[in-house]
Amino acid sequence: MNFHLDAYDIAYSDLGQEMLAKVGNEIYGEYVGQLSWMTIEEYRRFIARLAPGPESHVLEIGSGNGAAAVYLAAATGARVTGLDSSEAGLRLAVALAKDRGLEDRVEFRLGDASQPLPFADACFDAIFANDTFSLIPDRAAVVRQCHRVLRPGGHLLFTDCMVMVGPVGSEELAMRTWAGSSWLTPHGENERLLGAAGFELLSSEDLTESVVAVARRQDEAFGKYREEIVNNLGEGIYDGLAQSTAMAGKLAKERRLIRLAYLARKSPSRH
Ligand SMILES: C[S@@+](CC[C@H](N)C(=O)[O-])C[C@H]1O[C@@H](n2cnc3c(N)ncnc32)[C@H](O)[C@@H]1O
Repeated sequence: MNFHLDAYDIAYSDLGQEMLAKVGNEIYGEYVGQLSWMTIEEYRRFIARLAPGPESHVLEIGSGNGAAAVYLAAATGARVTGLDSSEAGLRLAVALAKDRGLEDRVEFRLGDASQPLPFADACFDAIFANDTFSLIPDRAAVVRQCHRVLRPGGHLLFTDCMVMVGPVGSEELAMRTWAGSSWLTPHGENERLLGAAGFELLSSEDLTESVVAVARRQDEAFGKYREEIVNNLGEGIYDGLAQSTAMAGKLAKERRLIRLAYLARKSPSRH
């Protein structure tokens, strides 16, 4: 379990959650607990594309505090299993599902997605992973594991916010990845890995604009609540968060690191 970020433990701490509850709506427009570049409009589109129903079982990789998994179960009636390597996130996720009365539909597991997924073959109808694959070292293995645990005809939808299409300097990269290890992917590599694992790519959508917008709004909210955030989380964390978000916005605006959503399908036949 070495690959989750300390920054997520900060975000999933009581003080982190308090801060997000305060600035979440200003950053995302509509905040449902997400901790990523994802706006709720995007998420509704993702859900519509995956189109799960009450009979579906969906896996979320990188389910964090459980907000997206619980939202999906409440919106569609689907069963959802969330996997995340953060114990702090897991505690929040389990409490959230219970609080919403969804503990019979939503289950969370502690696990490292860089290891073989702890699920049987062909047991999920759909897999969702938002801004998480760039945190996991062996992308090819993760995509192969997703193929294994999906039923024939099942869909995988994941976003990658670290697709590299232009030069990034070492200092820029250090600032952008202040929160922890990340893996940049050259443009075209996700498409290649999906094909190699046996997926058919149905669409890829450019969502770089959401990084620009969320980063700008986070910058404004951080300016507004600076004193409170510094008092709660300390100046080092405030500066690290503020600078890495500003760098993410800059690299996205200049279209050097872009964010894409990929929708892929496992072949409906077993062979
Ligand atoms: C960008 S957050 C996404 C949270 C949430 N799903 C959302 O969309 O807002 C990424 C999540 O991936 C988790 N994560 C990072 N590395 C992981 C790994 N190797 N295995 C499982 N989860 C991981 C982090 O703990 C974090 O909760």
